[in-house]
Amino acid sequence: MKKVGIALLGLGVVGSGTYKILQKNHEYIKNYYGVDIEVLHVLEKDIAKAEALGIDKSKVSTDINNIVRNPDISIVAEFFGGIEPARSFLIASLKAGKSVVTSNKEMFAKSWYELEAAAKEGNAGLYFEASCVGGVPIIRTLQESMQGNNILSIMGIVNGTTNYILTNMADKGMEYADVLKEAQKLGYAEANPSADVDGFDSMYKLSILSTLAFHKKIPLEKIYREGISKVSKVDMEIGKEFGFTLKLLAIGKLINGKVEVRVHPAFLPNNHPLASVKGSFNAVMIVGDNVGDIMLYGRGAGDLPTGSAIVSDIVYCSKQVEHTLTVFENCKDADFTDDFECKYYIRMTVEDRSGVLAKITGVFAKYEVSIDAMQQKQGGDSASVIFLSHKNSEKNFMRAVSEIKSLNEVKNIDAVIRLVD
Ligand code: HSE
Repeated sequence: MKKVGIALLGLGVVGSGTYKILQKNHEYIKNYYGVDIEVLHVLEKDIAKAEALGIDKSKVSTDINNIVRNPDISIVAEFFGGIEPARSFLIASLKAGKSVVTSNKEMFAKSWYELEAAAKEGNAGLYFEASCVGGVPIIRTLQESMQGNNILSIMGIVNGTTNYILTNMADKGMEYADVLKEAQKLGYAEANPSADVDGFDSMYKLSILSTLAFHKKIPLEKIYREGISKVSKVDMEIGKEFGFTLKLLAIGKLINGKVEVRVHPAFLPNNHPLASVKGSFNAVMIVGDNVGDIMLYGRGAGDLPTGSAIVSDIVYCSKQVEHTLTVFENCKDADFTDDFECKYYIRMTVEDRSGVLAKITGVFAKYEVSIDAMQQKQGGDSASVIFLSHKNSEKNFMRAVSEIKSLNEVKNIDAVIRLVD
């Protein structure tokens, strides 16, 4: 039986969940996977957390050298989150020949090259299944199950906090700020929710997923990012009338050999598979040129779901004779499209008098924007006008919007939301 000594960096939610699974499944993993995994050291300043899990305090410290210099530790699993000290501790561990397992998407997306270089130097492995979509095995699917395909697109709901907020806004008819407050009270959203609601978390995950899908390192600055903080209850309700559900999507596509990567709220038709993904659940659709559509669904966060992905990486890593590292070239500017095509929903407040609509549609016509549907709602001396467009170039549509905004008759552009089908 192969004995494997591991270290855990941090005993927060996921670190504790991982430890619990390793204890609970110890015999199962030995019997079915042939590895005897033992936690030899834990880096944690709060001894009470270790004691609550039954970890002897002789195994707990705050000094990374107790791990890096321990020849019996071959895998380091990191749960600190944030960039430092996680990045430095993992680089030191990799250089010392210890394989790394991490769920830290921000640090991983920003430091992938450095981590890979350190792993090569130390002849160690780098595993990150838990970095994207928590317990859903998306990374291994992309790395090991799609060889018969060129991946054409990857599209998903990869952030549970924002999906929880949007689901509650839709189901309870609540405003964004009120649901956010409630989510913070219940501990679903962080006190500083920016990483989730402004789309950063989805952007880090999309960078990792699209790098694996398209075999080119996708830099974060190439990803268009828009969060959910401007989403209003009014648009959710109007969207419902049109048969749409609003989601925060992470989208990576290959269009004529060029990559398109974006994170933004989008209306989906209610019968779209991603429209039924509710609450804090995540889901990702992959389209391969031979297999067609694949969809993975599950919990993207939480102690046991994310711990499940970490344990999978620990066992997988333990079984490797030689670690395979993913070496990708950085995408060049020319590898990206600087435009993409989408359908749009636009709501604006306009003066309610003759000729106003003609002026607006005139601008749409000038930019070759074709209108699919229109609705008008009365509101005193002004009217709220909603247009749905056919598929248009984003650049052309946004040029039209900016010209419409400057018309005297248009009081405000209240919302522009992309439609994905
Ligand atoms: N903040 C993330 C989410 C946690 O809400 O999905 C998992 O990455």
